[in-house]
Amino acid sequence: MFELKKTADSSKARLGTLTTDHGEIDTPIFMPVGTLATVKAVKQNDLINKIKAQIILGNTYHLYLRPGCDIIENAGGLHPFMSWDRPILTDSGGYQVFSLSDNRELTEEGAEFKSHLDGSKHMFTPESVVDIQRTLGSDIMMVLDECPPHPCSYEYAKESMELTHRWEKRGRDAFLNTDPKYGHKQAQFGIVQGGTFEDLRIESAKRVTDMDFEGIAIGGLSVGEPTDLMYEMTDLNTDYLPENKPRYLMGVGKPANLLHCIARGVDMFDCVLPTRNARNGQIFTENGYINISNAKWKNHNEPLDPNFPSDLCSKYKMSYIHHLFRNNELLGLELASLHNLIFYLSLMDEVKERIANDTFHNWYEDKAELLNTKI
Ligand code: GUN
Repeated sequence: MFELKKTADSSKARLGTLTTDHGEIDTPIFMPVGTLATVKAVKQNDLINKIKAQIILGNTYHLYLRPGCDIIENAGGLHPFMSWDRPILTDSGGYQVFSLSDNRELTEEGAEFKSHLDGSKHMFTPESVVDIQRTLGSDIMMVLDECPPHPCSYEYAKESMELTHRWEKRGRDAFLNTDPKYGHKQAQFGIVQGGTFEDLRIESAKRVTDMDFEGIAIGGLSVGEPTDLMYEMTDLNTDYLPENKPRYLMGVGKPANLLHCIARGVDMFDCVLPTRNARNGQIFTENGYINISNAKWKNHNEPLDPNFPSDLCSKYKMSYIHHLFRNNELLGLELASLHNLIFYLSLMDEVKERIANDTFHNWYEDKAELLNTKI
């Protein structure tokens, strides 16, 4: 499923291709998040033609609760339901359940939780989330895991990691003993945990590798730990992951984080940040990020960057975009979401080009610093 095409000479950055029945994905890649079968404020046509998204994310927890598996199954799966015929990855729901802190309970069997919509009780098990993701028909499904909070004690992180490994074994068995529902192949990724403890991270990477998933995710990071610690754990994990499987860092991150983690051997990323922050007026540019609601843009009667391929940048005056945001106009949300995703995906294009021509290593640190600057 994954072909490693190149590893950079002076860093762990890699080029690869992931093949699914809904198309190929060139890595490193950023996957726009479409939790509820929609990338908020962005049309499918724009995802394809403007953002050039090769894969998007959906979420088991949200889709299971609403619209529910029956509706999606009757539509023929998530792809026809949302009119999207490129690859989809679905998270297992574990992460979302664990963020319901007061409304969930973990047992050996699985995770019991109360719906955030109506308080009704449900249970996710390693087996049931495989069944649900079979019904969703995602190209890549994730196993059920527990993402421990940060900070947490060594004992908590260790017990939680071991529970995750037992769940992963059950999830893998359930995957291998069931078939896809809609005629296209599905893959399953395992998830490495272990908090911020080096020995646990190493042990988890080895244990998950032994289960022979089609790909391996690094979970439990970007949950409040310092950025350097996130980089350190990522670096450590990729040292213990197989070369021939895709590596997916879950829930990361800012543009600068992507560059640093690509240099540490990560192939895939997802995060709500570009779309969520777009809706709050944060716009990424080649020279840093801006907040469009800031008064300094009120009278700025030029486009931000006529050479950047988004309507927000090249077509409209900044004073107009500022006006849309000050008035909560829907067009502002759409233009900003579209812009930030075009920015992320074109950054990934530049990264691929630079890994291919061996200019990534000397470029990424300064670029990351620039992208982290507030304009
Ligand atoms: N999204 C971000 N982090 C995580 C994680 O640790 N586990 C899962 N399942 N999803 C995530």
